[in-house]
Amino acid sequence: MMPNNQYKADFNLNESCYFLSHSVGRPLKSSKASLEKSFFSHWEKSEPWDGWLEIVHDFRRALSRLFNVPMEEFCPQTNLSSAVVKLVMSLDVLKKPGAIVLLSEIDFPSMGFAIQHALPDTCKIKYIPKHLDITDPNVWNEYLKKDISLAFVTHAYSNTGQLAPLAKVVRLANDKNILTLIDVAQSAGIVDVDLSLLKPSFMVGSSVKWLCGGPGAAFLWVNSENLDECSPLDVGWFSHESPFEFNIHDFRFHQSSLRFWGGTPSVIPYALAAESISYMANIGSVTLREHNQALIDRIVIEVGDEFLSPRLLEKRSGTIVLGFGDRLEKIMQVLKKKNIMADVREQGIRVSPHIYNELADMEQLISAIVSV
Ligand SMILES: Cc1ncc(COP(=O)(O)O)c(C=O)c1O
Repeated sequence: MMPNNQYKADFNLNESCYFLSHSVGRPLKSSKASLEKSFFSHWEKSEPWDGWLEIVHDFRRALSRLFNVPMEEFCPQTNLSSAVVKLVMSLDVLKKPGAIVLLSEIDFPSMGFAIQHALPDTCKIKYIPKHLDITDPNVWNEYLKKDISLAFVTHAYSNTGQLAPLAKVVRLANDKNILTLIDVAQSAGIVDVDLSLLKPSFMVGSSVKWLCGGPGAAFLWVNSENLDECSPLDVGWFSHESPFEFNIHDFRFHQSSLRFWGGTPSVIPYALAAESISYMANIGSVTLREHNQALIDRIVIEVGDEFLSPRLLEKRSGTIVLGFGDRLEKIMQVLKKKNIMADVREQGIRVSPHIYNELADMEQLISAIVSV
């Protein structure tokens, strides 16, 4: 694929060197026309719901291809925070006195906020402290004790460029009958996740970052083996086993993960995301990752000790973090001037090369850094 990047022309990139896919992925050029066709054409013709619901099916089908599990196991959600609240509140095991949920201090804060507020007072949270190496399976082994009911596992950590040792963590948890909830916000579309092999209990993710599908098209995946453990509180007629039954005295949960759906769903975000997720699934997670890591390798060689995110491939997410001490501010000014888009977090500059980036983008970044 490199150096002739056949995918770049498919995206709207303007003139910038764009490394912010950890925040918002670039839109496909075909997105607008495709939305016109999939959403407006049904609305303009007549009663649109059959066509609109087909869009949501397409979204779930695309996820099913990307993550290699049945589409019935995916439920559309608005964002990860609300999906996590719905899930946590649905689990009877967390209502038992003394239940404990495991989180890490470097999980995305919104996940912590959502879980802290959704849990009953009798349920406690234990945090893996932020000074421990979250990429180390031994750390997880230490914390995955039998008293944990649910382990929240971020796959890719947004501020540090680290990957959790996901397969090992899920295996450890499954062996001890601990439920697992995986956050793939920063890995979906850039790190391979095969749920049929991994076998966690639950997963949440969204389409806005590496999947390039815009905001509002998040998802909750429920392993069919864990579905019976879920009794959502936040429901609506689309969560009903038979939504068109309309008997106010008889609510029964949908027989799939759609029990987490709720009331009348939004559609436009899923139309955009269905297209971009299919696009990424066609390329394949393995190719997406290889391309991303090849570009990262280019900078590892150049930047030396400033490279703060992990060097070992199995510990690296799609994002690199570069710390430049006193030079950081000046480097950010130069990047801005040269239209190289990256951002700064506590640990340093975040750079996320995606399928629409090429070697020339990395060279531009390197020469901007070296010039300071
Ligand atoms: C790891 C991780 N989880 C979750 C989120 C966002 O969650 P939400 O969809 O609720 O905004 C982000 C956003 O940057 C993230 O990086």
